[in-house]
Amino acid sequence: MRLSIFGLGHVGLTLAACLADNGFQVLGYDVDEKKSHMISNGRVPFHEPGLDILIGKAISSKRLCLTSDPEEAVLSSDITFITVGTPEKPDGSADLTYVDEALKSIGSALSRKKDYHLVVLRSTVPPGTSREAVKALEKISGKKGEENFGFCFNPEFLREGNAVQDTLYPDRIIIGELDKKSGDLLEDFYKRFHSSKMPPLLRTTLENAELIKYAANAFLAMKVSFINMIARLCERIPHADVEVVAKGVGLDKRIGAYFLKAGLGFGGSCFPKDLKALLAYAKRLNVRLPLVEATLQINEDQPLRAMQLAEELLGDLKGKRIAILGLAFKP
Ligand SMILES: NC(=O)c1ccc[n+]([C@@H]2O[C@H](COP(=O)([O-])OP(=O)(O)OC[C@H]3O[C@@H](n4cnc5c(N)ncnc54)[C@H](O)[C@@H]3O)[C@@H](O)[C@H]2O)c1
Repeated sequence: MRLSIFGLGHVGLTLAACLADNGFQVLGYDVDEKKSHMISNGRVPFHEPGLDILIGKAISSKRLCLTSDPEEAVLSSDITFITVGTPEKPDGSADLTYVDEALKSIGSALSRKKDYHLVVLRSTVPPGTSREAVKALEKISGKKGEENFGFCFNPEFLREGNAVQDTLYPDRIIIGELDKKSGDLLEDFYKRFHSSKMPPLLRTTLENAELIKYAANAFLAMKVSFINMIARLCERIPHADVEVVAKGVGLDKRIGAYFLKAGLGFGGSCFPKDLKALLAYAKRLNVRLPLVEATLQINEDQPLRAMQLAEELLGDLKGKRIAILGLAFKP
């Protein structure tokens, strides 16, 4: 199985490195030439523990090669993964420009490809995007989905800072499939990749898989805002400590200890943008998601709450010298 990857950011490059380390032949393509150049010299353009060693090995063993020709990437592989960014538009909805550009390149390569090819979208996208992507590929390539090419939506759940471990040992694999043949092929690939450590796998429709990603992120973010809400109450109760309350709550197996740490709220590249994209998507369908709205609202208020706390302790903050510990996104 020869693999190609469009988009060598946190998700794509980690996937490329782990696949190459597993013995797969991987061809990477990124529109950012500077980034591609760095990677082809064995360097990682961002910080991710353990990734530099894997990339060094992958490049020197030639299991990972880079190309500046998107057509070559598709023509010389059996499966193409799309891992391009889906940033936030000013109205909060997901910007699919990079996905559309990748589809254009893949579609035009498919028009010249004789063999069956599987396209796997891993970028986080709103429900309905994959089915539209299949139509776009058919239009550009003149080929028929299911017959000449397959399509899966396969969400990524890795955490930055733990990306290599999360890629090698994910909790689950979700495959949204256009048809059985596409799903069979991707499942077969994952069985080879994970072999005896194969995680639980769920095969479903494209739309379910797309929504699973957003729902999972919304639920995790909701846990963070929930414990921050309880923290505000604890601040007003003598002898109450949110850390102890969170520990007691998290010991319940139905709830779990993860994401119950009170603090300044969630940040990073995914939770805020994905929650806003989910709200924007639901709005288009005239559906309100009050829990998601409250999750974002609590999160936006949380840094101000920290300032109020500082003012309560120190008085007017003007002219005070303030040290901030743990400034990094992830300590
Ligand atoms: N970073 C995370 O922790 C994480 C976790 C889970 C899911 N995701 C999702 O995965 C997707 C990718 O995230 P990321 O953090 O890797 O993004 P990123 O911005 O770090 O990387 C995306 C890469 O795609 C490249 N690119 C853009 N258009 C391209 C094209 N047409 N062809 C080839 N390359 C192209 C960019 O140059 C960039 O290097 C997003 O949808 C994100 O929401 C990210």
